[in-house]
Amino acid sequence: MKDKIINIVAISGSLNPNSSNSNIIITIKSLAPANVVIKIWEGLDELPHFNPSTKEEIISVNNFRQQIREADGVIFSTPEYAFGVPGVLKNALDWLVFSGELNEKPVIAISASPLYTGGDKSLASLLLTLTALGANKNTLSSISIGNVKNKMNEAGEITDQETISSLQIILATLLETISLARISN
Ligand SMILES: Cc1cc2nc3c(=O)[nH]c(=O)nc-3n(C[C@H](O)[C@H](O)[C@H](O)COP(=O)(O)O)c2cc1C
Repeated sequence: MKDKIINIVAISGSLNPNSSNSNIIITIKSLAPANVVIKIWEGLDELPHFNPSTKEEIISVNNFRQQIREADGVIFSTPEYAFGVPGVLKNALDWLVFSGELNEKPVIAISASPLYTGGDKSLASLLLTLTALGANKNTLSSISIGNVKNKMNEAGEITDQETISSLQIILATLLETISLARISN
């Protein structure tokens, strides 16, 4: 029997064109089994600043919410800016608070930094926000990757085998969470 298609949306918290977090997402996409479609969503900088009193329809916000609603799971990979989540990513997550697209949605969260700490404070903050939004995750659903620049080549491809294995494992965790969620629904 053919495996059912699994649709995943992946979001890098960095707008940097040479982002190591975006490269991590590209690597995860390359590791995905044939039945897993990973769509890299790059609209963070098209979202307006979140304003809870906004009543009018905003096309970029509606599109973002639809992408998340229709996904079986979501991957986040984020840098750490000043010990926190980059404002553009937090802004995007704030747009989902009332509409609830991340509620019960299987997610994984990754942080990466050239520092040895791997953006751990950003990851902790992102996980708190994902908890507030009701996302479906467990203790295996997150990793931080330190010294990330030493783990990729000049073209930005992840070359460190241990990191590639960690990404394979966390992707497997997401697929497992999606499969368990399907059984219980
Ligand atoms: C404004 C700013 C603040 C930063 N603050 C931190 C920080 O608190 N912790 C950290 O590990 N790295 C920090 N960095 C370094 C980033 O981890 C580094 O630029 C990283 O490559 C960003 O991820 P990216 O390659 O995916 O864009 C900061 C970088 C910038 C531009």
